[in-house]
Amino acid sequence: MQVKSFEEYQQAWRKSVEQPEQFWEEIAGNFQWRKKWDKVLEWNFKEPKVEWFKGAKLNITENCLDRHLEKNGDVPAIIWEPNDPTEDHRVLTYRQLHDKVCQFANVLKNNGAKRGDRICIYMPMVPELAIAVLACARIGAIHSVVFGGFSAQSIADRIKDADCNIIVTADGSYRGTKEVPLKSTIDDALVQCPSVKRVIVLTRSHTPVSMIKGRDVWWEDEVKKVETQGNPECPVEEMDAEDMLFILYTSGSTGKPKGVVHTCGGYMVYTGYTFSNAFQYQPGEVYFCTADIGWITGHSYIVYGPLSQGATTLMFEGIPTWPNAGRFWDIVEKYKVNILYTAPTAIRSLMSFGDEVVAGKDLSSLTKLGSVGEPINEEAWHWFDEKIGHGKCPIVDTWWQTETGGFMISPIAGVTPTKPGYATLPLPGVQPILVDENGKEIEDNGVSGNLCIKFPWPGMLRTTYGDHERCRQTYFATYENLYFTGDGCLRDEDGYYRITGRVDDVLNVSGHRIGTAEVENAINMHSTVVESAVVGYPHDIKGQGVYAFVVSPGKHGDEEITRKDIIMTVSRIIGPIAKPDKIQFVSGLPKTRSGKIMRRILRKIAEGDTSNLGDTSTLLDPAVVDEIKAGAL
Ligand code: WT7
Repeated sequence: MQVKSFEEYQQAWRKSVEQPEQFWEEIAGNFQWRKKWDKVLEWNFKEPKVEWFKGAKLNITENCLDRHLEKNGDVPAIIWEPNDPTEDHRVLTYRQLHDKVCQFANVLKNNGAKRGDRICIYMPMVPELAIAVLACARIGAIHSVVFGGFSAQSIADRIKDADCNIIVTADGSYRGTKEVPLKSTIDDALVQCPSVKRVIVLTRSHTPVSMIKGRDVWWEDEVKKVETQGNPECPVEEMDAEDMLFILYTSGSTGKPKGVVHTCGGYMVYTGYTFSNAFQYQPGEVYFCTADIGWITGHSYIVYGPLSQGATTLMFEGIPTWPNAGRFWDIVEKYKVNILYTAPTAIRSLMSFGDEVVAGKDLSSLTKLGSVGEPINEEAWHWFDEKIGHGKCPIVDTWWQTETGGFMISPIAGVTPTKPGYATLPLPGVQPILVDENGKEIEDNGVSGNLCIKFPWPGMLRTTYGDHERCRQTYFATYENLYFTGDGCLRDEDGYYRITGRVDDVLNVSGHRIGTAEVENAINMHSTVVESAVVGYPHDIKGQGVYAFVVSPGKHGDEEITRKDIIMTVSRIIGPIAKPDKIQFVSGLPKTRSGKIMRRILRKIAEGDTSNLGDTSTLLDPAVVDEIKAGAL
């Protein structure tokens, strides 16, 4: 599946455009199927309806586990580094991981889980998280992993939207010096969720928890029961290629987060292929992705992609800055990591601690580097290249989204000549186009526009859970017959792509997607708030920060207290990841005569660029702009 030269890349890309079905059929031949497909692809972007490998039968865990056992059963599948470096690390070989997945799959069955059930997973970054995910896939249950930084309310919204009947969680998790009470947050969420019949709780932090009789059980007790039943195997459930594999919620420009749906066959082929090709993974290499499994990066490139390729994937429980800002580099040294895949926000944060933190660390094992989540600024790119890669590691700047399932525009390590700040060229199978506001294709090079994809790829989302119309509206209705990414993009004279950031009301804060409407709704729930408007502003470490303009006439206590109360409200409603960085109290928001908030003006003020606010003559009350300008933070 790997191309070995730029010419081979160009040939592969051309073939994937001219004969897409043949191209993907050959790639799919590298995986294990219970039954082959009747048809490679059926599609239209109108409904939309996209079906890959229709009629095929498979189980993704057979590809991620069973098929490696005969020759590579003793190869490490997961290396786990705990939060506390003095605690023992763990290594699970493919055989051990297989056995644990089977065991937990049987636990799920014993607790009433059936094919097609939705199971919510809210866990720390421990091997049991990967085990729970794979156990769901093995029995054909649909997992919905919720990142540990989300609030009880957000969890409840997700559980209700997907109608989950089982939760897998832990007592608590460790993040640096902090202990996060996961089970207690789940308990708060479940007050609203009568559909949940069972909560399986892993012991991790020994935080005291309440265990409700008849509903809550301990992971370890359930595993013991399975052991005494004496049946360690769990045969795989034979899934249709287009059966749902998982739901993952992500924010958009309007309303509540939507449940992006990925299916078994196409997602497996796409994540396996892109992982193998873009990173040019070689057997024996140690691969470290610093993301959390609660995000798509973790799903595709900690769990499914690497494991389907028999790779050794390193999972890290902690944070990059504890016990000190050298933690990533200690991990690289300790496990002789060959491939490091991380985010610009982490790079910028670690850069800020100075070169002493890197000096003296043995990073000589590294051969390839990766970046994901947001545009990487040139300064961070060069630091990554020089201080971490010592100028000898290609950097793959992978552009993709929760909805795309896997890498879309990305260099192939050692094959595609890189350029700082550029995701470079589409991978084979990907057909990007740039369009203007009217959906007209912008041809030639040296242009910019809105980034769309004009042909299906196997890893793309199939629907948004429970609301197909929303999927159509969000991604396929803006421009006819195109998938719209929500990103702006430029294509330079060499045909290289550079993502310039979202063109909708979605913020990218430390690589996390945050909908401005969602944050506004949360702020507006605070008792003293009349209305608010949230925009992004450039932030040295986070990429973007959250700037809130808030109308709150009857303050309770002083401004500082109200500010903290609002932050607490956002934390409660969405989670700590959406907390505003700046809150400016204003007497009114700049609105047009028809009542629409002029965000363009607020964005400029938040960016500190008030020299040219453009045309403000259509505003209902232009004076409000001067007040906001004067009070800008
Ligand atoms: C949005 C998707 C899928 C990875 C994690 C984020 C931005 C992602 C890059 C990159 C510039 C990037 C885009 C995209 N983005 N990778 N390499 N260069 N921008 O997944 O939460 O679904 O967010 O992240 O704006 O639309 P996500």
